[in-house]
Amino acid sequence: MAGLKVGVLISGRGSNLQALIDAAADPDFPAEIALVLSNKADAAGLARAAGAGIATAVVDHRGFPGDKPAFEAAMDARLRDAGVELVCLAGFMRLLSPWFVDAWRDWMINIHPSLLPAFKGLDTHQRALDAGVRVHGCTVHYVRSEMDVGPIIVQAAVPVLPDDDAHALAGRVLAQEHRAYPLAVRLIAEGRVRVENERVRVEGHAPDGASVLLNPAP
Ligand code: GAR
Repeated sequence: MAGLKVGVLISGRGSNLQALIDAAADPDFPAEIALVLSNKADAAGLARAAGAGIATAVVDHRGFPGDKPAFEAAMDARLRDAGVELVCLAGFMRLLSPWFVDAWRDWMINIHPSLLPAFKGLDTHQRALDAGVRVHGCTVHYVRSEMDVGPIIVQAAVPVLPDDDAHALAGRVLAQEHRAYPLAVRLIAEGRVRVENERVRVEGHAPDGASVLLNPAP
């Protein structure tokens, strides 16, 4: 492992963290996880990181009642101390203040379980079902201070199937999250991603016109 130093922020399960750990285990992957930081001491993802020999830290937001800037300053210090260059939010369920977002501008990314800008916020899979969309998915994007807004780096689309419930749809999307997040980190670490006028350009990207998802299939 070597390359761009990544800090992963989690609050829970950590399956996207696991996908990044697995990707970074490949010696050819151009990034390494320098720190996994959780706002919850019981986040399952911490054990995944420890099991992979990755440094972990807990900054519990409840230790800073009414003082969000101090909570974020403590996280910022941990990330800087670990030499983190790119912050990856992976199921990190606290909203971040503009100062923290600005401090990491264009060096902090998030994964969200919908095809943004549709279905920002929570319960994305049930809301996609309720809206009757035929295609759903996930998005990796740069973080801006508005929630689930920012230049889009990678999206993956999946079909919504007739018998889907939120659980089945979530599982189909999650499988693609685990591909999309490592891809986004790889592209950034390779220096191929540029933000221009709040849109992302990926250098050396070959458009693939053949892989259109048409649902229902003709
Ligand atoms: C993932 O589905 C991620 O997209 C979502 O939380 C889950 C975390 O799972 N993030 C958000 O909803 C952020 N708005 P994980 O802990 O297994 O990676």
